[in-house]
Amino acid sequence: MRYEDTRAFAETLDHNDPLAPFREQFNFPRYKQGRSPVYFCGNSLGLQPRLAVEFVQNEINNWRDYAVDGHFHSNRPWINYHRLATAGFAELTGSKPSEVIAMNTLTVNLHLLMASFYRPTAERRKIVIEDGAFPSDQYAAASQIRVHGYDPESDLLEWRPRDGEVHLRIEDLEQLLQQEGDSVALLLLPGVQYYTGQVLDMQTICDLARRYGCRVGLDLAHAIGNVELSLHKWAPDFASWCTYKYLNAGPVSTKSTIRVTTSCKAGGVTRRAVVSRCTRLSNRRLARKPGK
Ligand SMILES: Cc1ncc(COP(=O)(O)O)c(C=O)c1O
Repeated sequence: MRYEDTRAFAETLDHNDPLAPFREQFNFPRYKQGRSPVYFCGNSLGLQPRLAVEFVQNEINNWRDYAVDGHFHSNRPWINYHRLATAGFAELTGSKPSEVIAMNTLTVNLHLLMASFYRPTAERRKIVIEDGAFPSDQYAAASQIRVHGYDPESDLLEWRPRDGEVHLRIEDLEQLLQQEGDSVALLLLPGVQYYTGQVLDMQTICDLARRYGCRVGLDLAHAIGNVELSLHKWAPDFASWCTYKYLNAGPVSTKSTIRVTTSCKAGGVTRRAVVSRCTRLSNRRLARKPGK
């Protein structure tokens, strides 16, 4: 196809786009002069699916009609609501259904997962993130380092683009791991960098982590629903994502999801162990008195 910088060419592309009819399934913000906008902000908040109102109304009705029995007897019983997401998440992330679970928000899950997978020792205690990582990821990694009594100033490393470049080079990550020897405990990296839009080579990142003896966790906030994922094959130690960007689940969607390797090579931590640890941690926190 030869690109042409004309309106007619753009309209032909639109006309032939097999995905074009999906536009009808979403509500677009009202726009001045009655025109509907081209929406490029799905990386921040996805559009509202037209079906959303019906689904939400349905649950409001279930609450009205069943009250507490809605946990067990409504048409989509709430007690197992998280399981309704399992098949879809497994498909979108290239995981087995037994490897994914819907719970919490992304940052909460990163903390819970790091509580299990970031086990620093005096020798191996550093976390690698990318330069310009999403601010809450930076804070999460830094606070995990502090929890263990170490110092983010020296123990939070950044994989940076070369001078004058914007994109990250995988060979520079390998060089960083070589330089740092055995001191890196965890790579916490995105699938798609939120600011530059760079799709990272997740397979190679996971392979490098294994080769250099560290754990690897992926933040897939900007990757899920956007690029093809094969988590079962790549086998990161964990991954977490959210549902309000390319999955269009809405600004108050609290369900983020974690994916954990079924059996972690380095430590033999199983998904069941991690999930029950997460539950134990939350219970302990709930039991704690305010202010403690
Ligand atoms: C890359 C990335 N990480 C983390 C977050 C934080 O997610 P949450 O506030 O749902 O925990 C976001 C949210 O936009 C994000 O884009």
